Amino acid sequence: SALPDTDFILFGGTGDLAVRKLLPALYRLHCQGLLPDPMRIVASGRTPHDDDAYRAWLRAALEARGLLLRDWAGFEQRLHYQPLNVHQQEGFAALAARLRPDRTRVFYLSTAPSLFSPICRGLHAHDLILPDSRIAVEKPLGQDLASSQAINDDIGRYFLESQTYRVDHYLGKEAVQNLLALRFGNTLLEPLWRREWVRDVQITVAEQEGIGSRGEFYDHTGALRDMVQSHLLQMLCIIAMESPPSTHADAVRDEKLKVLAALEPLGGAAVLTHTVRGQYLASAAGPAYREEAGVQADSQVETFVALTARINNWRWAGVPFFLRTGKRMHRRLAEIVISFRDVPTSIFDTPLAGLQANRIVIRMQPQETLSLHLMAKRPGDGMRLQPVSLNLDFSKASQSRRLAAYEWLLGDILKGNLTLFVRRDEQEAAWRWIEPILRAWTEVGQAAEPYAAGSWGPAAAEAMLARHGLYWHTGL
Ligand code: BG6
Repeated sequence: SALPDTDFILFGGTGDLAVRKLLPALYRLHCQGLLPDPMRIVASGRTPHDDDAYRAWLRAALEARGLLLRDWAGFEQRLHYQPLNVHQQEGFAALAARLRPDRTRVFYLSTAPSLFSPICRGLHAHDLILPDSRIAVEKPLGQDLASSQAINDDIGRYFLESQTYRVDHYLGKEAVQNLLALRFGNTLLEPLWRREWVRDVQITVAEQEGIGSRGEFYDHTGALRDMVQSHLLQMLCIIAMESPPSTHADAVRDEKLKVLAALEPLGGAAVLTHTVRGQYLASAAGPAYREEAGVQADSQVETFVALTARINNWRWAGVPFFLRTGKRMHRRLAEIVISFRDVPTSIFDTPLAGLQANRIVIRMQPQETLSLHLMAKRPGDGMRLQPVSLNLDFSKASQSRRLAAYEWLLGDILKGNLTLFVRRDEQEAAWRWIEPILRAWTEVGQAAEPYAAGSWGPAAAEAMLARHGLYWHTGL
């Protein structure tokens, strides 16, 4: 195949993300013939499995998750396991003995970020890093700008930026990639895609689940760091950026960086009017956030955040970008709503207020759809108007199977395509914008307001939009 022969080394091979996302994605890529041949997967972790024990363990773990393993025999041949404690050298030496010098090495670090540095040092000490090796790391990369810089410095000591794949799995979602196609494969929208015609943009990622078993992690993180710093800001960039000259990694990333640099700083007392923090209460679905395992009983950490962002450039000045995300929300919904300006005056009996503004809704979850909301004549007597919508369901629009986010991203790492990965300067620019918000929350003492599980978050989030004469779209 066109892909280089590869040894794929998975640190954290018994971890939650590996079993939930990475290995199922590798398995499906295998079944579709999209993995290089030969390619070995060498998983590693502290558990002292041998190859066979790991294969049996993983098979049971994947089946327990409901995966139908039709070609397990073929996949299993690729799977190996190397016990490894990143603080001890034996594991690295044993790993070195197993890897083939003639294969491209992908080191995928699905571990806590505190292990990135010892892993990089261990790889380097055993001469495991070759000029064509690649490293992939998962978010969260740090807690703030300084800690993310420290992690990036550690990685950068051993890997070039062109070898570094910072994963933001939202960029792997078909619907997010489709934004590029929508914006730059069509002329229709471009003249409208600006302050003159867009009234506001809403980006919502609502989840029904709570924080699950991640209490300890989450209570040091919160929704702003967990979701906004990464996924929501990346989507905002793709919506707002100028046309890149090509889809080459740096061409796209340069444009995203400019958007981040144009974000109006948000901090100080402005957070009181421009941000809302919330924390979910108990419900039939589960305990209150503060009662979750690993969470402080008086925790101030937010499980919901809504904020108003502004982009100070010629295309977007004056257009509010409303971002919100939360756990234990009314329903699972990830979508971007671009609302256009009202008609200047109504020539119909319908008063201006009865004419809904046009909007484009790009939904990522639960289904991938694109809809365009317009006004049309209500059938029958009289010239009365009603809202109608044009809907495109991407799962029905094409026969070909759509790749899950991690399938895309793993495929791109194997191909060496960095376009859908976050460059260091982008990530740091995102932290530069997030950090003053975090600081201001502490300084002005902005608490996380309790909200009912199964709701759309605290009432203050509605009030924030009401001040603009707007309301949140809830995907109905
Ligand atoms: C992760 C966050 O990055 O994204 C999780 O850490 C969140 O808290 C998840 O649940 C959401 O991803 P998806 O693809 O299920 O929307």
